[in-house]
Amino acid sequence: MKEISTVAQLREAVADAKKAGATVGLVPTMGALHAGHVSLIERARRECDFVVVSVFVNPTQFNNPDDLRTYPRTLEADCEKLTAAGVDVAFVPSVEEIYPEPDTRVFDLGPVAEVMEGAMRPGHFNGVAQIVSKLFSYVHPDRAYFGEKDYQQIAVIRRMVELEGFKLEIVPCPIKRHDDGLAMSSRNVRLSAEQRAQAPAIHRILAQSVEDAVECHDINALQQRVVEAINAVDGMEVEYYQIVDALTLQPVAAWDGRHPLVGCVTVWMGDVRLIDNIKYPKA
Ligand code: PAF
Repeated sequence: MKEISTVAQLREAVADAKKAGATVGLVPTMGALHAGHVSLIERARRECDFVVVSVFVNPTQFNNPDDLRTYPRTLEADCEKLTAAGVDVAFVPSVEEIYPEPDTRVFDLGPVAEVMEGAMRPGHFNGVAQIVSKLFSYVHPDRAYFGEKDYQQIAVIRRMVELEGFKLEIVPCPIKRHDDGLAMSSRNVRLSAEQRAQAPAIHRILAQSVEDAVECHDINALQQRVVEAINAVDGMEVEYYQIVDALTLQPVAAWDGRHPLVGCVTVWMGDVRLIDNIKYPKA
């Protein structure tokens, strides 16, 4: 594996691979890699000849300076995982390399970026669009891989791709969970042992909601039940739970029990903000 820190070296490595006829897969990450990231990389490895993984904690997508400061950084362990996963290039740039000057671009991300995370974290998705569009413009991958834990992020990235006219396939990959159901996340390491023991309740309650939805098609009632059940768990506070159209991410007024929906939740456990989601109806 080549570890590269400049855009010029990255462009050169990718150009060489493309000249040799390779298809290129990109897995953008912010490091602190876990088995969820590894599953994206393994998929990219299966589907592409040349795999690039970026490791960059992107400051422009953090609307909370404390979150940026405390975001876990584990570069040495990350590089070991990337080598073991057979990655061709690890792109590990500095902030100055990516942003030699401030990125003032404002993307017209539309309604998918206005709800849920977009409403709670102003500027977050614009920052995601900035970094992902930069990465796409350096690599021009055939495919880029993103985890469905950040379900809304994938919709926002699709919108950015449409706006910028990138030609590539966005590959959404299923959420990877611990055996107890907790969605894998780089932020999980910040949970205390007690919080970590409680955290699987989030997925348990969402899964129960999908069961409940077999009988109950009242979206408001389903949402309310989830919020009440999670808030009843010691140390948990729901920021939002919204069941939305799986494609447009807009609220649904009435549901026929069949149309694909996704329920997205954000839960605070102390100062750790966890997100998760689940698809309706029951498969
Ligand atoms: O999902 C993430 O880890 C980040 O938002 C991404 C896509 C790597 C952009 O910084």
